Amino acid sequence: MSTNFPSASPEARQKVTTRTFQRKKQRGQPITMLTAYDYPTARAIDQAGIDSILVGDSLGMVVLGYANTLPVTMEDMLHHCRAVRRGAEYAMLIGDMPFMSYQASVQDAVRNAGRFLQESGMDAVKLEGGRERADAVQAIVSAGIPVMGHLGLTPQSVHQFGGFRPQGMENQAARRLLQDAQILQEAGCFSLVLESVPTRLAAYVSKQLDIPTIGIGAGAGCDGQVLVTHDLLGLFDRFTPRFVKKYASFHGEMLRAFQAYKSEVEAGAFPAQEHSVEMPDQEWQSFLAEVEG
Ligand code: KIV
Repeated sequence: MSTNFPSASPEARQKVTTRTFQRKKQRGQPITMLTAYDYPTARAIDQAGIDSILVGDSLGMVVLGYANTLPVTMEDMLHHCRAVRRGAEYAMLIGDMPFMSYQASVQDAVRNAGRFLQESGMDAVKLEGGRERADAVQAIVSAGIPVMGHLGLTPQSVHQFGGFRPQGMENQAARRLLQDAQILQEAGCFSLVLESVPTRLAAYVSKQLDIPTIGIGAGAGCDGQVLVTHDLLGLFDRFTPRFVKKYASFHGEMLRAFQAYKSEVEAGAFPAQEHSVEMPDQEWQSFLAEVEG
């Protein structure tokens, strides 16, 4: 039994793998996934029994404060993946390949995907794009690394899309997205994220595929769901995408706690006696005698 995870019945839990994803799809059991970027969040997500943790490059926006995900580097990702790895025992861990770590060449793609497993203990990688990424997916999978695809609103293409806007809204775009999904499945992806695409298109694509789809802003017809944890917790106050459900308001809680701390320190109410340590009288007297002569 793990000393790190005092959950109710740790012996009943097993590490989630690509096979678990496949089995859940076959049985019609929804797959759960959340993002994490640090140790305590990974620990809580894992203890909650969530199937998978994505160390998303949304890191750039919700943790590092960039306007989009483009500035995120391999080193940023590996650093945060290692922290998540230390916090999670059961969830399947997926490292998000950052912008320009897989687009320039298939060799780059394989090498960088390998770093996620070798240097940060991830179980799989995710990358964005459709048919244009089929060669990279095939090569990474041939190296023994599971790949999750990502279609629809792929944030690394924000400038090409002219903003963060829903995708697959017209007939032609919907057909292209379906074809891309089939191509990625053929190339070896074990699962696909569908982000910000119409509900009925996502449900249709999910039915056509043998591999599970994980939706974000893609309705209830996907085989699983993912959210950015900072959105779900209400930790990120800059904006909230329409498809997010906030399960908590941690930014407000944090603000209240910081203001209370400030007031108490300024009023001399913190630290109180119970937050302090004191040395024995005798030691104090001999200290004073020595320093004051
Ligand atoms: O970077 C990320 O968090 C993602 C999810 C939104 C799927 O790609």
